[in-house]
Amino acid sequence: MAFTIAIDGPAAAGKGTISRAVAAHFGFAHLDTGLLYRAVGRKMLDGVEPILAAQQLRPEDLGVDGLRTAAVGQAASRVAVLPEVRAALLDFQRAFARRDGGAVLDGRDIGTVICPEAEAKLFVTASAEVRARRRYEELLAGGAVTDFETVLAETRERDHRDATRADAPLKPAADALMIDTSELDVEAAVAAAISAVEARSLERLKG
Ligand code: CDP
Repeated sequence: MAFTIAIDGPAAAGKGTISRAVAAHFGFAHLDTGLLYRAVGRKMLDGVEPILAAQQLRPEDLGVDGLRTAAVGQAASRVAVLPEVRAALLDFQRAFARRDGGAVLDGRDIGTVICPEAEAKLFVTASAEVRARRRYEELLAGGAVTDFETVLAETRERDHRDATRADAPLKPAADALMIDTSELDVEAAVAAAISAVEARSLERLKG
């Protein structure tokens, strides 16, 4: 049986952590769709034309080192503006969403474009300052040399580009449940997400 949980939201809102925990809780498969755009962004930085890179993307491209850097994140949001790149990545994501046994996908447009029929949709957000602080700490822990102001500026720049692009802009689906993680620790955010999914499933059962 297919059951899709769509988790969208801006950079460093906590989607990745929440999605992995929700997938583990329900025994569903998980796809971090940001990794697809990061892999295409990485190839663009290596000189490959981004539309071609998206059309020729292979599973092993998602496992290469260095996809989580700030530079690759910026490159990902630049290639993500291109409709042809988004189109090339669509079928893979749709097939993953409707696979047997349930799937959690996190990204920017899962509930709005990739899987508008998803059984449960969450929109995870937090203030730009809180998100930049988390990303800054992640980058430092990964050995990057940067400062908080730079990370905050990059977070705002990426938010702006993601939310204002013409094709599949970042926005909550009309029927998404909102979770603001600004004041929540990981455990509380995961618990909020699991109960939101359970509430949605019960509503659907009642029809
Ligand atoms: O981890 P973080 O939230 O910083 O970013 P990500 O989820 O890895 O996504 C990197 C970039 O890919 C985003 O800034 C978006 O521009 C793009 N993206 C997208 O357009 N659609 C998706 N479903 C996922 C990511």
